[in-house]
Amino acid sequence: MKKILDLMEQELKQAFEACGYEAKFAKVVLSNRPDLCEYQCNGAMAAAKAYKKKPIDIAAAVVEKLTGASADASGAQAGSAHPVFSEAVAVMPGFINLKVSGQFLAEYMQGMAAADKLGLEAPAKPETVMVDYGGANVAKPLHVGHLRAAIIGESIKRMGRFLGHNTIGDVHLGDWGLQMGLIIEELRDRKPGLVYFDEAFAGEFPAEAPFTISELEEIYPAASAKSKTDEAFKERAHQATLKLQKGYAPYRAIWQHIMSVSVEDLKKNYSNLNVEFDLWKGESDAEPYIADMIQMLVDKGLAYESQGALVVDVAEETDTKEIPPCLIRKSDGASLYATSDLATIVEREQDFHPDRYIYVVDKRQGMHFEQVFRVAKKAGIVKQDTPMIFLGFGTMNGRDGKPFKTREGGVMRLETLIAEINEAVYARIMEDEERTVSEEEARRTAGIVGLAALKYGDLSNQAVKDYVFDIERFTAFSGNTGPYILYTIVRIKSLLNKYRENGGIVSEEALEKDILPAANDSEKALMLLISRYNEVLESGFSETAPHKICQYIYELSNAFNSFYHETKILTEPDEARKDSFIGLITLARRVLETCIGLLGIEAPDRM
Ligand code: ARG
Repeated sequence: MKKILDLMEQELKQAFEACGYEAKFAKVVLSNRPDLCEYQCNGAMAAAKAYKKKPIDIAAAVVEKLTGASADASGAQAGSAHPVFSEAVAVMPGFINLKVSGQFLAEYMQGMAAADKLGLEAPAKPETVMVDYGGANVAKPLHVGHLRAAIIGESIKRMGRFLGHNTIGDVHLGDWGLQMGLIIEELRDRKPGLVYFDEAFAGEFPAEAPFTISELEEIYPAASAKSKTDEAFKERAHQATLKLQKGYAPYRAIWQHIMSVSVEDLKKNYSNLNVEFDLWKGESDAEPYIADMIQMLVDKGLAYESQGALVVDVAEETDTKEIPPCLIRKSDGASLYATSDLATIVEREQDFHPDRYIYVVDKRQGMHFEQVFRVAKKAGIVKQDTPMIFLGFGTMNGRDGKPFKTREGGVMRLETLIAEINEAVYARIMEDEERTVSEEEARRTAGIVGLAALKYGDLSNQAVKDYVFDIERFTAFSGNTGPYILYTIVRIKSLLNKYRENGGIVSEEALEKDILPAANDSEKALMLLISRYNEVLESGFSETAPHKICQYIYELSNAFNSFYHETKILTEPDEARKDSFIGLITLARRVLETCIGLLGIEAPDRM
């Protein structure tokens, strides 16, 4: 379905042109004075400059054309028989205030209810979109720092896919760095008798890992701490990392063990978050592409030696801040973060040839990606016009405004965080005076609602901003929170259940219900919000802005709840009207459920 804004604009364009003005002035936007109108067109102001006329004269002429009625320059009301607008008024200094026709809006609702994906149109040109998110580091426990990458990235991926793009989510594990050398050397110190450390060993390496996940989780922090005080140990770890990267078989074998033990655990963790990746690739997968890529950069005259290292200049004349050269290889031959990211792009181009790249990573890595993107374009690894988007997110802070820590000041594990939030939600459900669920169900529901509280608390902020992780606020059942949105959905579900219990017939999609023009203002307000669905989804994705979806469903929930409080839905005596209400709230439920699905959130049946 066309966006309702576009349908309105089409009408305005015709009117502008009929009056002899260019159609480009006919832009329609949401009203910023909802007390006066629903939509507005401010184009007469710009047109006035172009045509050297008074804006109000232009606005009045357009309104007259639009409605076929005469409007005087003071802004009198226009005629009413227009198919799209119930009201079009020219007001000083030259605004055109618009209200949508009730009939037209009702038909739009009907159209949405019947359409595939609620009327969302397939993209004109479906793209292959590579979403790089998650970014967990193997052998290090998943902590809250990676939480945002997972939550935001998952939402972006779901949006792209739902919109009809071939969207690929890649976890891009950190599996090739110094942590591997640290673990290898720590393992050597703890278990020197292992065959991996016997240079004379020529047999097959064991299939069984020489550690469990809990041992591994303890080994890394110990090794990391040791490397901070023990220079010799650090150097050994560094050498071991290099040897691993060069393919030394025993270390490769240890690495395999680290990978299988750790990835299994990561998969469990991500799945608890309802986060699913299409690709479980990592930095290590880029290794085979590095040598050729570096050669190519040298051959093209882009990479050159500087103090023994290999670098590529990426500064541009228009830069307002200094962009240092991108380091491709260290003097000891070790590859770097940028090397593996570039080689990964080579691999992705070969395997998928993406039309768009989206990286969801901590904003402090902004410079790194700027350098990488520039090298990729300069070297022709990626086409000039392929968008490479860095969606950098801010820090999740504690209530003290500092990066989130446990009460003891340590890094909080994701599992602990989730358990805490579930506990808080459980308490909320149990203290609700209108509680309808058993204690047991409350436990289960708290898991679903807790995850929603966590994700929504994150996604409702603009990603780039830091935000305060506030369990109290996130788990509240009112205000702009996940639980409030779910509460609204649950309210609609229970209304529909009651309707069924009283003998009402309604399918999941309520397609057989005729939606009538709104009976009152709150119903119209609800319809107007529902009608914005396709526009919000498209801009949410094109602007990589899940917070726009949150803002939308918050407003939609508010509109539904006002309508609910002001309308006797189930006791409406007029059957056709009641049917229409049922059709509309079913549509509201479907829009809300679709949107939370894009945020990676589910609704329980009751709460
Ligand atoms: N592993 C990295 C980290 O923890 C994040 C990876 C982001 N993605 C990428 N292609 N570099 O900081």
